[in-house]
Amino acid sequence: MLGIIGAMDIEVEALYERMTETEVRTIAGMEFHKGKLEGTEAVVVRSGIGKVNAGICSQILADCYHVTEIINTGVAGSLKAEINIGDIVLSSTAVQHDVDAGVFSYPPGEIPGLGIREFPADEKLLALAKECCERVNPEIQVFTGRVASGDQFIDSKEKKTRIHDTFDACCTEMEGAAIAQAAWLNKIPYLIIRSISDKADDSAHMDYDVFEAKAAANSVRLVTAMAKALSH
Ligand code: ADE
Repeated sequence: MLGIIGAMDIEVEALYERMTETEVRTIAGMEFHKGKLEGTEAVVVRSGIGKVNAGICSQILADCYHVTEIINTGVAGSLKAEINIGDIVLSSTAVQHDVDAGVFSYPPGEIPGLGIREFPADEKLLALAKECCERVNPEIQVFTGRVASGDQFIDSKEKKTRIHDTFDACCTEMEGAAIAQAAWLNKIPYLIIRSISDKADDSAHMDYDVFEAKAAANSVRLVTAMAKALSH
């Protein structure tokens, strides 16, 4: 069973529409849509925004649906000049940019007690996503790199520069690393797929409003192609 999490309606509604044999169950205020996506058994859910929602949602996928993989789909702000609006970033690893226990000598992003600072994505899902993306989204660039998540919408040069320089991350968003942490704790392979909606700078808010739908559509196209490939 494949688990697919999007934070917002725009990131999951197109997937709900493509599902068949759907059963919907509400847990913790989240609607879990279980059925078939392109022939693959899947549960698609809108987690809501932020790391707490994303962590809770992932744990429900583990406990109640016994998912064998988790894909997080959605939009993100670019942290690198060469990654443009509309391009896709696939996670090599994910880190929480708002975790700071530096006073106890932990590096930025490391949660005391876990023994790991960033959570590695699954190599097989990554390879499949790359192959599918080049096929279904040939007009855009696909990057693989670190995703930095935190409970903040990043909309200034200063905030963007801090995250980029501290973590050398490709993009920033608000759920991915929480899903990655939950997946790591539960030993479930995961991948974050993010389509760039803005540059996480002073024009982020305006760009986000304009490009969110286009960016989300690129992610949906890729996730659908992956589900189809996984059904074979
Ligand atoms: N999601 C899309 N753009 C974002 C940004 N700039 N910061 C946080 N999350 C985002």
